[in-house]
Amino acid sequence: MATVYFDEATRRFAGHDKSAVDSITLDIADGEFLVLVGPSGCGKSTTLRMLAGLEPINGGRILVDGHDQQGVRPRDRDIAMVFQSYALYPNMTAAQNMAFALDNAKVSKSETKSRVAEAAKILELDELLDRKPGSLSGGQRQRVAMGRAIVRNPKVFCMDEPLSNLDAKLRVSTRSQIAGLQRRLGITTVYVTHDQVEAMTMGHRVAVLRDGRLQQVDTPERLYDHPVNTFVASFIGSPSITLVESKVEQGVASVHGLAVPLQRDVAARAGGSVVVGFRPESWRIVGAGDGAGDGARSETGVESLAISVDLVESLGSESFVYGRPVGAEEASRVTVRLEKRTHLRVGDVVNVVPNQGEVHVFDASTGDRISD
Ligand SMILES: Nc1ncnc2c1ncn2[C@@H]1O[C@H](COP(=O)(O)OP(=O)(O)OP(=O)(O)O)[C@@H](O)[C@H]1O
Ligand SMILES: [Mg+2]
Repeated sequence: MATVYFDEATRRFAGHDKSAVDSITLDIADGEFLVLVGPSGCGKSTTLRMLAGLEPINGGRILVDGHDQQGVRPRDRDIAMVFQSYALYPNMTAAQNMAFALDNAKVSKSETKSRVAEAAKILELDELLDRKPGSLSGGQRQRVAMGRAIVRNPKVFCMDEPLSNLDAKLRVSTRSQIAGLQRRLGITTVYVTHDQVEAMTMGHRVAVLRDGRLQQVDTPERLYDHPVNTFVASFIGSPSITLVESKVEQGVASVHGLAVPLQRDVAARAGGSVVVGFRPESWRIVGAGDGAGDGARSETGVESLAISVDLVESLGSESFVYGRPVGAEEASRVTVRLEKRTHLRVGDVVNVVPNQGEVHVFDASTGDRISD
């Protein structure tokens, strides 16, 4: 077990003006499951490879258990990588694949045997140990790859999109297996994904990267409730947050004509315009009923936004209604989550209001959060 500390760690590839990983500072606790997430090319794999010693660093330091890793060879770092491509040896059985690194490290035969058996038990691979990768399913191969990392009993696990080759259903079940396994083993883990749902469901904390720069490191709840900028706000959450650039006059933001009063201190920090963000669940339908059986409820004195429905997604337990504010330009979209099924249809017009205290406010020029 170990702590990991990135201290302004930087990686710039030869011939590139911009750093692929730009001065990242990240303090990872012993036993923590930290997820690195961000769009393609933002520097996730490079960050992980720097930690594993597979990529040199051009600035800053990386400490494992307080020890600077500069000059420490990858195989001396005691870090086990699990990649997207499992890269199992096709001619070896599952057991031999798992034992391979230990044989190389001159671990005794009996010790190897017991570690492989233990990992196989944890991963429910007992019955499959004599099979070769060719006769294993994707999920089983993935577990062998995990087993290969576990038997090493490393200080740190580095996992780079290990689930992306699995189909959607298997991904969901394997995701909870990995998270559960990590909790039981308590091995510090840095896990890379571009899937925000994976990030939110697996990590103790999630680090959001953009263009090589760290945007925010927080618990999943904090990221969702308090995104530090519009990038994080739109990256985290599915369906995405609705962001609307709005003029502010006398402390009130005008969102497609809907008056959204800003808290006094937020208004004081806001310039002439802000970006206002609404999560799908932060809207409720007023006036004409939504057909969800709740009945029509009109709220006098509350201005509402009329939206014309252009897509309805019914997922069974909940529905998402996508619409365009009446009179707004084509590109404007608002997403509304309804708890139950809805009878709304494309072309219907509904009135919605935001729940008080659930609006996110960002600076229009920098995109930085200005609400609490
Ligand atoms: N060996 C290399 N030489 C030059 N540039 C590289 C090299 N490896 C990565 N890059 C660049 O560094 C940036 C970060 O790449 P990286 O592979 O870390 O992204 P990523 O976040 O893992 O993306 P993805 O989600 O697509 O895997 C990209 O712009 C990429 O093109
Ligand atoms: Mg990558």
